[in-house]
Amino acid sequence: MTLREEVLDKLEDYKGEFISGEVLAAELNVTRNAVWKAVRALRSDGCRIEAVPNRGYRLTSDTVTITKNGIIKYLRSPDSFNINIYGSLDSTNTQLKRAALDGAPEGTVIIAERQSAGRGRLGRSFFSPPHGGIYMSILLRPLVSLPGLLPSDAVMITSAAAVAVCRAIEEVTSKHVLIKWVNDVYYQNKKICGILTEGAVSLEANGFDYIIVGIGINVLGGELPRELEGIAGALYDARDQEYTNRIRHKIVARILDNFSDIYRGGLRSFVPEYRRRSLILGKDVNVIQGDTARPGKAVGINDDCSLSVLFENGEMESISSGEVSVRLR
Ligand code: BTN
Repeated sequence: MTLREEVLDKLEDYKGEFISGEVLAAELNVTRNAVWKAVRALRSDGCRIEAVPNRGYRLTSDTVTITKNGIIKYLRSPDSFNINIYGSLDSTNTQLKRAALDGAPEGTVIIAERQSAGRGRLGRSFFSPPHGGIYMSILLRPLVSLPGLLPSDAVMITSAAAVAVCRAIEEVTSKHVLIKWVNDVYYQNKKICGILTEGAVSLEANGFDYIIVGIGINVLGGELPRELEGIAGALYDARDQEYTNRIRHKIVARILDNFSDIYRGGLRSFVPEYRRRSLILGKDVNVIQGDTARPGKAVGINDDCSLSVLFENGEMESISSGEVSVRLR
């Protein structure tokens, strides 16, 4: 690596925070003058770097992006993933689907700083502004890695991803988050994460040819479209001094490792934790299908991650994800 690249790497590490010329010079084992020359060269390459007396250097907030190096350094098993970062994409799920159809292997990961057409469940869109979110998709090839996985087990993948996200957030931020069946993660009663699992089934093999697990997290909040006000939240807001870009890198790394642990463990051990983290168990809910809302109580989450609901007419039903969503009453 050239000194210029090393300085950029360090600034990436500290995105959102200042790092003094003295510290940079000491960490890179060069003089402060050499650091300054590297900064000047980076600026002439188009990098926007602030220099403030007595504080040091930092990349300006509009260049605060997720980087591959930033993630890899926190990954326990870097060789298990092939991480691809984009500044902007229509949707990481759509891009990964293209890669899957071209033969990309399990462990391919696509991450974008922003999405112009982020997608959610039930045909909804997913608001994906830059600089504070995580928009990532992970490719699985279950016919090879988990041959027993049936098309009917898709909900298990979404649920496992939800547990991996909760663990990651708690490990990195110590914030307590809960799961709203089946694919939403909540912090302080607001949705901060959605998961969209998509795949293609091989009829011949009666299994998934590929699965794409798409995860969107609002880490640093900003202005929301009116329709999301009061519904969507974020882990941090702009006033939180403790937020740095490093937090996004760490969360991505922990999600990848946690999800890989659960998936490689055969999707067996996470359901009790999924139950413990449930926002809706024991609560009054509406089960929404199309235009119909049926009132009931969420009474259990079964071993296949379906939801048992006792409806007000006395009927008990197990609901699998499909076209259904659940709202607290
Ligand atoms: C939902 O809330 O209904 C699910 C939202 C899933 C959003 C993520 S962001 C990364 C990936 N790419 C997409 O287009 N969607 C998922």
